[in-house]
Amino acid sequence: MKAIQVGVMGLGTVGGGVFEVLRRNQEEIRRRAGRGIEVTMVSRRDVAKARALVGDAAQVVADPRAIIANPEIDIVVELIGGYDLARELVLEAIAAGKHVVTANKALLAVHGTEIFEAARAKGVMVAFEAAVAGGIPIIKALREGLTANRIQWLAGIINGTTNFILSEMRDKGLDFDVVLKEAQRLGYAEADPTFDIEGVDAAHKATIMSAIAFGIPVQFDKAYIEGITKLGAADIRYAEQLGYRIKLLGVSKRRDSGIELRVHPTLVPSKRLIANVEGAMNAVVVQGDAVGSTLYYGKGAGSEPTASAVIADLVDVTRLHTADPQNRVPHLAFQPDAMSPLPILPMDEVITSYYLRLRVADQAGVLAKVTGILAAANISIDAVLQREADEVCAEGGEPQTDVIILTHDTREGTMNAALAQMQALPTVLAPITRIRKEELN
Ligand code: HSE
Repeated sequence: MKAIQVGVMGLGTVGGGVFEVLRRNQEEIRRRAGRGIEVTMVSRRDVAKARALVGDAAQVVADPRAIIANPEIDIVVELIGGYDLARELVLEAIAAGKHVVTANKALLAVHGTEIFEAARAKGVMVAFEAAVAGGIPIIKALREGLTANRIQWLAGIINGTTNFILSEMRDKGLDFDVVLKEAQRLGYAEADPTFDIEGVDAAHKATIMSAIAFGIPVQFDKAYIEGITKLGAADIRYAEQLGYRIKLLGVSKRRDSGIELRVHPTLVPSKRLIANVEGAMNAVVVQGDAVGSTLYYGKGAGSEPTASAVIADLVDVTRLHTADPQNRVPHLAFQPDAMSPLPILPMDEVITSYYLRLRVADQAGVLAKVTGILAAANISIDAVLQREADEVCAEGGEPQTDVIILTHDTREGTMNAALAQMQALPTVLAPITRIRKEELN
C-alpha cells in the first residue's frame, strides 16, 4: 500500500526528530502501522535551515499553507506553536480534510473545544500525545489504558524547566533567581522563561489532562496558576526537614461539586516516587478507582522524546483513518454528547493541606495566638517546627524566629481568611509564606 504522506509545519528541533526517527525506524513503524509513513513536505520560514535537516528527502517550503493545499498530504503535523497562527492553520488543515497531529498544548488548552468540534464535523482526527509530558504516553494511558476507571485525581510534574530549577535549588541550597540564571546559561531555561516559571505551560498540560480524565471541556481560563518565582531556598530546606520535597505540580481532582484544576508549588512527601523525580524529567500519577495509583515517568521535552509521541500519533492516525469516525477513540476520551457538566471549582473551594512559614517575634504567647486562629477556623495542625531564635535573630533587633506549620486538609477559602487574621497580628513580622501540600496517597 502507498505510504501515508505527512507534511510538517514548523520544522525545527522536534520536526527534525520526527524526520530522523521515522527514517531510522521506518521498517518497525511500517510493520506496526500496516503501511509506510513518510514526511514528504516540510515548512519553515528559513528554508535553508529546513533543508539542512531534511536534505532532498522532502519538499521544503516557506509557507505552511502550501502543505495544506497539497492534495497528496494525508496528515499535517503542526509544530509551529503559539495560539493564533497555529489555530488558523490547524482549522484550515481540518477544513481541507487533513488529519492533524500537534504538540501544541497552548493551542489545545485554549482553543481545543473549537478545534475538536471542527474535526468532529469534518470526520478527521486531531492527535496530541506530544502536547503533554513529551515522550510519556500519558494521553494514551488516560484516554485508553485507564478507560475502565473512574479517575479520582491526577498530579503531575509536567514542566521540565521548573523541575530542573527546583532540583538545583534543593541540591545546592540556592535561591530561585540564582538558579534561573544558571539554567539559562546552560540552556535548560529559555531566554524568556515566563511560560515555564509562571506555571502557564504546566497549566496548559493540566487542562488537557483534566478534560480527558473527567470528560469535561478544556477550560484553561478556569485553571488556578501559581509559578515558582517566589520560592526561597529556606522553604525547600524546611520542607525537607519535615519529610517533604517541593514540586511544581499540575493537579486535577474530582469532587462531588466539581473539578479542581490547579498548578502551584506543592509539598509532596519525600517517600513518594514522584517526589524523587529530579532534573528536567516529567512524571504523572493517576489515581483510578479500579487500578489504584499508576505512575508515568520519562522525558517531557527534547527532539526525539517528543518525536516519539508525534510518531505514535502518526501510527494511530494511519491505522484509523479508514475507520468509521464513530468508531474512533473520541478526542477527549468521552463521546462528545456525553461530556460532564461538572464545573471547574473556584480556588476558594479547593481542599488541600498547607505549609505555612511565619516570621514572628520570639515572645511568649505568639504561637498560641497563631494556633488559636487556626483552631477557631477549624483548621487542624499536622506538625509545627520552630527554629532557634538566635539562628535567625535580626542584627540588633528583637529576637525573631521562623515558625513552620503543616496543616491537615481544609478549604482554601477558610485558609485565606485565617491567613489574613494571622498576618494582621503585630507579632507576625513579614508576609506569611503559604505553600500547598498534597499527600498523594
Ligand atoms: N518548556 C517545557 C518544559 C517543554 O520545560 O517542560 C515543552 O512543554
